[in-house]
Amino acid sequence: MQLSSRLMWSLLGGVAGVSVGFAMYQAWGEVHTLRDDIQRQTLILAESQQRAAEQILKTGSARDYQAFVDQLRNHDRLAGEVLYDGNGQPLAMTVGMASQLVAALAVTPAAVRQALDGGRVRGEFFRVSGMPMFVLALPLSAQSHLVGVIAVFHNAAYTGAPVWQHVLTSAAQTVLIVALTLLIIRWSLGGPLLRITQWLRDVRTGQASGGGELPKEEMFQPLTSEMTRLATSLHAARAAAEEEARLRAAAHSMWSAEKLRVSVRKKLNGSRLFAISNREPYEHGFQGTVVTCTVPPSGLVTALEPVLRASNGIWIAQGTGAADRRTADRRGRLRVPPDHPQYTLRRVWLSEEEQEGFYFGFANEGLWPLCHIAHTRPYFRAKDWEHYQAVNRKFAAALLDEMSGDKDPLVLAQDYHFALLPKMIKEQRPDARVAIFWHIPWPNPEAFGICPWQRELLEGMLGADLIGFHIQAHCNNFLETVDRALESRIDWGHFAVNRQERLTVVRPFPISVAFGPDSAASAKPSRGERAALLERLGIETTFLGFGVDRVDYTKGIPERFRGIERLLERWPAFQGALTFVQIGAPSRTHIRRYQDLMTEVQQEAERINLRFQSGSWRPIVFLNRHHSHEEIQPYYRAADFCLVTSLHDGMNLVAKEYVAARDDGQGALILSRFTGASHELPDALIVNPYDTDELARAIQTALTMPSEERESRMRRMRAFVKEHNVYLWASNLISQLADIRLKTAQSSVTEPEHVNRRRA
Ligand code: G6P
Repeated sequence: MQLSSRLMWSLLGGVAGVSVGFAMYQAWGEVHTLRDDIQRQTLILAESQQRAAEQILKTGSARDYQAFVDQLRNHDRLAGEVLYDGNGQPLAMTVGMASQLVAALAVTPAAVRQALDGGRVRGEFFRVSGMPMFVLALPLSAQSHLVGVIAVFHNAAYTGAPVWQHVLTSAAQTVLIVALTLLIIRWSLGGPLLRITQWLRDVRTGQASGGGELPKEEMFQPLTSEMTRLATSLHAARAAAEEEARLRAAAHSMWSAEKLRVSVRKKLNGSRLFAISNREPYEHGFQGTVVTCTVPPSGLVTALEPVLRASNGIWIAQGTGAADRRTADRRGRLRVPPDHPQYTLRRVWLSEEEQEGFYFGFANEGLWPLCHIAHTRPYFRAKDWEHYQAVNRKFAAALLDEMSGDKDPLVLAQDYHFALLPKMIKEQRPDARVAIFWHIPWPNPEAFGICPWQRELLEGMLGADLIGFHIQAHCNNFLETVDRALESRIDWGHFAVNRQERLTVVRPFPISVAFGPDSAASAKPSRGERAALLERLGIETTFLGFGVDRVDYTKGIPERFRGIERLLERWPAFQGALTFVQIGAPSRTHIRRYQDLMTEVQQEAERINLRFQSGSWRPIVFLNRHHSHEEIQPYYRAADFCLVTSLHDGMNLVAKEYVAARDDGQGALILSRFTGASHELPDALIVNPYDTDELARAIQTALTMPSEERESRMRRMRAFVKEHNVYLWASNLISQLADIRLKTAQSSVTEPEHVNRRRA
């Protein structure tokens, strides 16, 4: 590395300036000290001679004068001494004084004259032929009269030496320091800068997204982490551009985030998308004092992010993280994703009371058990209902505020938390296209009819132009419920509700997982991964079963444990040979029913383990904490079968995640017939989770079926999920919403018109 001459010269100039400055200051100090010493020593000498000199002047002869001044002959630094009379005339001077000094003494030195005039000791530095000299003149007196002066001359030449010494030393130091500094700079910066250059070149030329080694030194950390982010963004942008080009060229049928982005941008035609959900896509918390950001493990974020990014949209959600307020502005807004902001997250803050009544109360103790036929009694409390309405209004107000500057916005409300919101929005903004997607089942009219506020809920939902469920059966249940509860006309031909001159289309949109190359599942299972997993869990087993759920009574977790128990009873050969691992993430733990369920699940696992365990083997491992998507993947890939035994489920994405994770083509899926997924994955072993014997038989079949059959089932399921991925779900939903033609003031037709009226 060539260091610039500017750096070298400025270093040289800077260091030289500083050290010469210091040297001069130090030399000046030393000269001062030396001069003080000369003055002091000369004075002491002169004073020691004063009495003798006065005596000699009084009584002595010329020879005595000479003998007196010659005492200082051959002294190291003294040039000599002169004895003057009271008129300033020399009486005697030391023999051997330098000739230049002798010549100069032809004129009485000023110090001698001043000493005679003032009667006080005088000293002065002066130069004789360029040589520095000091003279001290001490007045001599006899009976209070000035009778003469002794003048002691001191050679002061050596007082000039420090300056030169110091200047020379500092010049040498300067050269040394500059040379050393240049060497150190070159040694410590040259290598890392070369590596950074190479790394950037690799990134620029597309050889790697920062494949080479970046400097590890702490001082480079801020720079290298920014560079890594930059490279990731660049890499993603390149991949997106390539994918876009590839898709355009090949008109590829497989949906990806990129294809969705491109298609949505075209569909939206400049309009923005506004998504509303209770859970937020980015939650900020604290790890000690450090603010952290997590993405909740939700398929919804995966699906909706590309759409929001493509439209620079706004996502409105409840701010639930401990550091959420700190990371948003005064209106609760922030740009996300934090590393590469492309859309806005608007957080809505709820009080504890609101959260209690809206979320725990009406949504999760009322609507959740109402819509899931899992034999848990719903509770409908008037207070909770008030909070539910108030929170829907609060979110609607935030949404209307965000939409105020937008023309023809698209609104996508998510789930049972916001049944009332579509109507609230539509009343204020008839130009908005509004959809609500219901992620949970819709029960039959009799079941839904027990809700005291069923009419208000239905009216709220019917404010939307489009209502989505996972499967057609839920659409039918909804239409029947509307038919029974409200004055309306159901168009069964088009699956639409016509009420008070408004039309709402009801359609199935089966949600899915990402699957594509950006899915974490695409990594091949490493050899020994299963062995490592079992070792970590401290179990030895031949067969491994797996389940992962929120601990929720709709998931049928005790039922599946009993299925395992029955299998071990009926086929004892599996005792000691099969372990079932259940990950159970604690959920909605404020609610009593969920606390009771957690206890029940733990007790069932314990009971069955106590019954069968032997040595280091036990049939059930219950891992009672939230696991990240990355932590779950090894279980999916290692498990011989995955158990999904929901008593009722809108779709169930665990089933699809398991299928997506098995890129080795192995594994069997056992799936409850009460899930939406069972309508799409007939190649799973479909079971009734209430039928313990059937469940046990299905596990036995999964473990003993011929490998060709297992593989061909998995192959078909993978092909289906791959094609029907979450991007297709989002694309269908958004396209259908964007295609809706609204009744405007200009169009005088009596009913809003809908295009794309596919028969479901
Ligand atoms: C279901 C609901 C979602 C909800 C999720 C997790 O899938 O449909 O809306 O977000 O459960 O529940 P939680 O109450 O923790 O948000």
